Amino acid sequence: MKTRAVVIGCGHYLPARVVENAEFEKTLETDDAWIKSRSGIERRHFAADGETTSSMATSAAQAALKDAGLTPDDVDAIVVATSTPDLTFPSAATMVQAQLGMTSGFAFDIQAVCAGFVYALSNANALIVSGQAKRVLVIGAETFSRIMDWTDRSTCVLFGDGAGAVLLEAREGEGTSADQGILATDLNSDGRYRELLYVDGGTSTGTTGYLRMQGNQVFRHAVEKLAATANTAMERAGVSADDVDWIVPHQANIRIIQGTAKKLNLPMEQVVVTVQDHGNTSAASIPLALSVGRARGDIKDGDLVVTEAIGGGLAWGAVVLRW
Ligand code: UT7
Repeated sequence: MKTRAVVIGCGHYLPARVVENAEFEKTLETDDAWIKSRSGIERRHFAADGETTSSMATSAAQAALKDAGLTPDDVDAIVVATSTPDLTFPSAATMVQAQLGMTSGFAFDIQAVCAGFVYALSNANALIVSGQAKRVLVIGAETFSRIMDWTDRSTCVLFGDGAGAVLLEAREGEGTSADQGILATDLNSDGRYRELLYVDGGTSTGTTGYLRMQGNQVFRHAVEKLAATANTAMERAGVSADDVDWIVPHQANIRIIQGTAKKLNLPMEQVVVTVQDHGNTSAASIPLALSVGRARGDIKDGDLVVTEAIGGGLAWGAVVLRW
């Protein structure tokens, strides 16, 4: 027997304001055709004034709890993956804890930029497998619209806001790849690539700063590293691409998603794609895609799901789980 962290609920939240590509044509030298063909993005959601990472994370968490038929009192821990917390501290996770009305348990943030949700799932899995928590809310939430340089067409057309959440519960499995739950994880980072994707603000500047990205350089790393980490996680889980039902990738660019699927020998019919509607929501993109994939009826109980992501750091990783 082996303790497994099983997904028992999921949900998401998207701000009401939808911004189509054409809207950027008014202020920037860009057009819908460039954005769509280079990235696959058609629209994205932007948070309203007063809407924050923690408020969106709370809405997503409430949706996941409802999906599982549980209340905040049933949760031991909250892990929020975000690079855009409301404040430098306290953590967005403790703010979510308060907004949910939880006065027990523990909550903390994980910051691994676009790989944040994969890192959060992996750490939540470790909490469950080691017996430190029985039920963990794992949330990815971002307001990247607040760190955009609206004069930089090479970045500001790519990102969006939103939040997604899954609720993990400790359950006993047989210890085989047929078990429900997280079967394996793989995490990596290489800080030498800091300059490729970063925010030029923080305690060193006294400003929040803006996102800076050498997109084509990040692109060069993406497909190879994503396929490698997915393969490592699958190998650890004792499964192969033939066993996989769904890839749920970080939604940064349709060409990266297609290239990675091809390298893994999986057809696009088995990939959950939301990038056209959400843009790149960093750590929120995978839980958003999981929740949308589940709501569409694509991801079914028992399906083998591989998630993979890469982002600033560089940091990248993958999680293999059976729903
Ligand atoms: O989620 C975290 C990880 N991030 C990523 O995975 C992002 C990875 N990178 C990408 O998705 C792509 O590199 C981009 C979508 C950012 C860019 O696509 P690209 O095919 O790599 O284009 P590029 O950066 O090489 O730029 C090509 C041209 C440049 O013009 P020149 O130098 O060839 O004359 C840019 O100035 O496109 C120009 N360009 C634009 N043109 C119209 C850049 N942004 C725009 C724009 N509209 N918004």
